[in-house]
Order: sequence, then C-alpha cells, then structure tokens
Amino acid sequence: MPLSISFTKDTLPTKGSVILTATEGGKLSSLGKALDKTTGGAITRAIKIKKFTGKAGAMFALLAPAKTTLDRIVVLGLGDAKKLTAADAEKMGGTALGTVEKADGVITLMLDPAGNKEVSDADIAARAATGAMLRDYKFEKYKTKGKTKGGPSKFVVATKAMAAAKKSFTELKAVAEGTILARDLVNEPANILTPPEFAKRAKALTKLGVKVEVLSEAQMKKLGMGSLLGVGQGSRQPSQMVVMQWNGAAKTKQPVAFVGKGVCFDTGGISIKPAGGMEDMKGDMGGAAAVTGLMHALAARKAKVNAVGILGLVENMPDGDAQRPGDIVTSMSGQTIEVLNTDAEGRLVLADALWYTQKRFKPKFMIDLATLTGAIMVALGQDYAGLFSNDDKLSEQLTAIGNAEGEKVWRMPMNDTFDKMINTPNADMKNIGGRYAGSSTAAQFLQRFTNDVPWVHLDIAGTAMGSPKSSISRTWASGYGVRLLDRLVKAHYE
Ligand code: BES
Ligand code: MN
Ligand code: ZN
Repeated sequence: MPLSISFTKDTLPTKGSVILTATEGGKLSSLGKALDKTTGGAITRAIKIKKFTGKAGAMFALLAPAKTTLDRIVVLGLGDAKKLTAADAEKMGGTALGTVEKADGVITLMLDPAGNKEVSDADIAARAATGAMLRDYKFEKYKTKGKTKGGPSKFVVATKAMAAAKKSFTELKAVAEGTILARDLVNEPANILTPPEFAKRAKALTKLGVKVEVLSEAQMKKLGMGSLLGVGQGSRQPSQMVVMQWNGAAKTKQPVAFVGKGVCFDTGGISIKPAGGMEDMKGDMGGAAAVTGLMHALAARKAKVNAVGILGLVENMPDGDAQRPGDIVTSMSGQTIEVLNTDAEGRLVLADALWYTQKRFKPKFMIDLATLTGAIMVALGQDYAGLFSNDDKLSEQLTAIGNAEGEKVWRMPMNDTFDKMINTPNADMKNIGGRYAGSSTAAQFLQRFTNDVPWVHLDIAGTAMGSPKSSISRTWASGYGVRLLDRLVKAHYE
C-alpha cells in the first residue's frame, strides 16, 4: 500500500506516532514543549539522558508515552534551522519516515522550522512530504511472500503553512512520481522490460497529454539509423525509438530535448561481458528511464515548456545475427563507424538518437543521459554523474541545481586529444578510444553527432543503479536525473 500523504494545521495529534523536530542544542518548538509538559517532562529528560544535540538526522523515540494516547513520540534533529535547504528538508522527511518504519497507523510530523529566509516553511513542509514519498518506495511486485507488512499508512505533515504547503506539494508530487516511475523502470528485469514493453509504458504518458510516437525498425532503417540498428540486430526483441513531446508553451517556442540510452539489457554482445554482476545490465536503460520520468513530471505538473524526450531502445545480445567486432556501420548522420567492441554500444545508440533529435526538432539544447561507461564510476563514484558539454552556461546551471537538489554532477574534460583517440584508418571513427580516459572518449564520440547544438552528456553509470541506500532512496534504482532536469527546466526554461 502506498503511503497516503496529507497536510494539517499545527495542532498535536492524539493518536498514532508523532515526530517532533528539534533544532541545534535540542531545542523543541512550542508544540513540542507543550507535549513535553503533558508527559511530565519525559521528553526533556530523554534529551538530557541521550545527550541529544539536535544535529541533523539524530533521533530518539519514546514508546507508549505516559499521560498521552500516542503510540510513540520521536524527536528528530533538524540541525541549524536557519540553514535548512529544500534538499535538507527532503532528506529530513525521508529520515522521519525511516524512524517509524515499524510503526502502524498515522504518523504526524510536526514541522515549523521558520528559519531559513530563502526557503518558505510551506516549501520545507512540501519537501519533507516528498522525501517521505521517495523513502516509502519499494520494489516488491515480484515477491509472493515476505512482502513488507504493516508500517505507516498515513503520513501527515503538520504546519502553520498548511494551505501553501499543499499547493507546493501538488507540483513536487508530480516530480516525485516521475522519479518513482524511473525507479520502477530501472528495477524491472529485462525479461519483462523489453524494448516494446518499455515503449508501451512510455505510451501510457499520453493520458497526461504527452504526444508519444514509436518508431519501428523499418522506419529507423528508412531514416538510415544503421548505428542504433546494428546494436539490436542480435536480439529477438525489435529495437524501437520513442519520441515524446510535451507542449506546455506557445507553438513557436523552441523545445528543449532530452535523450536517453535505453539498452534494456547489455550482455556486451559478441564482445561479451564476464558473468559476474552481468545482471546489473538490466539497468542499462537508466538514461531512458530518467527521460521518461522527466516527461511524466513535466506533464503532470503542466510545465510551461516545450520538451522533447527521445528514447533509443535496444537489447544488446550475442547471436548468429549479432554485429561483429570490426563491422562498419553507417549512422543517420552519414558518418561511418568501425565497431571495434560491441560492448561500447550505448554511444552507437545515442549517435542516431542525438542526430535525429537535433535534425527533427532543432532544439534549444539537448541533454542526453546514459549509463555509458564503467570508467565514470572509477573516476567519480556513486554520488556524482559525469557531465560533458560544449556549453558552459548549461554546465554551470546543472552544477548549481545538482548541488542544491542533491543530484550532483561533476564536469569532466573534453578536447581535441580525446577526439583524435577515436579516429581509425578504416572509417570516420571507431567506437572505442583505448585504455585511458574512457568516459571522455565516449563523450567525444557523442559530440560528433550533436551538429554543434548546445549539448550536455550525463554519464549516469554510477548514479542510476546499484545505488547506496540513502534517506530518500532504498532500492537498487535511485531514479537519478528526474529531479535534476525538472528543476533545471523550472528554474531557467519556463
Ligand atoms: N553499460 C555499460 C557501462 C556500465 C558499466 C554501466 C557498469 C553501468 C555499470 C557500457 O555499455 C559498457 O559496456 N561500456 C564499456 C565501454 C568499453 C567497452 C569501451 C565499459 O565501460 O567497460
Ligand atoms: Mn556495453
Ligand atoms: Zn551498455
């Protein structure tokens, strides 16, 4: 059962669990103090015994507190309320729900930080609710036994700014739903989420007003997409390209475009991957999942923007029909590619997807997301996506928003030396660059298909899957990218 989330005025509940927040020094709000009085000072005594400082994330719980009808009182540290950012509030909401994981019934989070002048109390409350929603997400649809039972059914945020918080949450909820959609797609196994099934799920966005087209192999062949089609030719599953359009602004307004790598499973092809950990390659469509989640978010919150979402959906399999190392393919751009490693397939998919996007839509910019290289995980770990770009302004905007939202990016270098590394005597380029700078040579490859349109490539191999548990994410898939790009649009392109 998904958690139901609501807002109420700042009055103390009499049932269920209540979460009080305390600021630095273990200071309670006035309602917290009132509840402390009811319990005969049990809360302040516990604060002393626990040496509770109120630092962010610190907590303790009192069960069945005397002289109340409550199940429990949890005290949760906020740290310095004056410095509380929107992203902190989101984490706090997730942590708050985490403190009552085993509690049944209604949870009420008492929230009135009234601290930071840059973030309203309403936004703090709405962000806390979003954090709880993201924290609550589980992937248990294939468990016939041992599913999570019980636990909170209702999460109520109590705040003076109730009406404004509700309003702010309707928009943020759309974004969280988009993140959850992306997580669902990434967690889904590859026997279920084939390219046609993925396209079907993208089609479901039509009910939000998104225009969705699906290009077949025959149509892609006509368009000359030999690079993308080569990747899928060893699979029983047909390759597909999904074209989503959200038109929230005037017809004449140039769209912004998002392009996702959607390799529904990456065996490596004939350059096959080692067996250990290969199951993770069900998540090699994390870029396409993020783009789908983003389109959901933009449409569900009726963003005033024209946005295009393009998915290159393929399955990379070894087979009698599979492409071989050494094959030379012709991309839609006309440029030829010598495929020296069939496991460097993501760039082959994106080459045609990027070219198609700029040619058909003439976008203001293109941002692609792709679980493209293992090398980016070696360089940046799991907290930062690698950002490669030909545009300083976009790069700076994304860096700032990533830091504020907790979906961080780190800009990586591109230059001529890397570009030369993908030259080959046999064709216009090869699809691998050698041992060094693997993420940068991959990005140089993509750049050759951007036709100089302002462009950003986000290598999300480290951030989209195999994600460490955090206060707002508990499953293998994080849904990385949806919030980052939604907020980019919101801040600069609406
Ligand atoms: N999908 C992989 C990259 C990847 C690895 C994503 C681990 C997530 C976790 C990609 O298609 C790939 O195989 N890349 C190769 C490129 C190499 C052959 C040039 C890699 O990174 O090893
Ligand atoms: Mn690969
Ligand atoms: Zn791949």
